[in-house]
Amino acid sequence: MDRKGVFICIEGLDGCGKTTQAKLLAGKLQKSHSAIYTAEPSRGSIGTFIRKSILYREKRLPSVVEALLFAADRVEHVQNEVLPALRQGKLVISDRYVYSSLAYQGAAGLSLEWIQKINEHALRPDLAIFIDVNPETVMQRLKANRSVMENLETQRKVREIYLQFVEKGDLIRIDGNKPKNAVAQALHTAVLKFLNANH
Ligand code: TYD
Repeated sequence: MDRKGVFICIEGLDGCGKTTQAKLLAGKLQKSHSAIYTAEPSRGSIGTFIRKSILYREKRLPSVVEALLFAADRVEHVQNEVLPALRQGKLVISDRYVYSSLAYQGAAGLSLEWIQKINEHALRPDLAIFIDVNPETVMQRLKANRSVMENLETQRKVREIYLQFVEKGDLIRIDGNKPKNAVAQALHTAVLKFLNANH
C-alpha cells in the first residue's frame, strides 16, 4: 500500500483528557510533520449515526450491534480520511481507534478475538498510545456529561483491557494522572522518540 505518512492513535477512558492531548499534539507537530487531528466515531454517515443515536440513549443497544457499527464506521473513517492523508505523507493522529472497540465492546462481554476479526480490515496504526487515568478520577470529571458507556465498573473493565494491550506491547502507556502540561510533554516525547527511531 502506498502510504507515506504515519498513523498514530490515542486511546483512553472517557474524560481522560485524550481529546485535549491529541489536539495539542497535532498542533505541536503540524508544521514539522504535517500532523492532522481526526477522531472516532468519525464525521462520516455511520459515525454521525452512532453519535446521534447510540451514545446518549437511555439504554445500550446489543453489544454485537455496537461493535459492528463501530467497525463499519472505522472502515469509512480509514477510507475517507485516514488513508488519503497518509498518502499525502501526513501524520494522522486519531482520537480513538480499534483499541476502543476492543476495550469498550470487550468490557461489554464480547470476545476480543471476534472484535479483532470484524476489524481485520482496519489499517494497523504505526503507534498506539494509552493515556492512563484512574477510573475514579474520570468519573469525577465526567459527572453530568456521560455517554451510555460510562459508569465506574465499566470504566474499570475498559481500563483492564487497555492494560492487557499495554502488557503485550501493542499500546504505550502514558501516565495521565499528572497535570495537563506534564502529560502533553510525555506524549510529545514518546511520539518524537518513535518518529526519530522509525522515520
Ligand atoms: P468519545 O471519545 O467520548 O467521543 P466524544 O467525547 O467526542 O463524544 O467517544 C464516544 C464513546 O464511544 C466513548 O464512550 C467510547 C465509545 N466507543 C466505543 O465504545 N467503541 C469504539 O470503537 C469507539 C471508537 C468508541
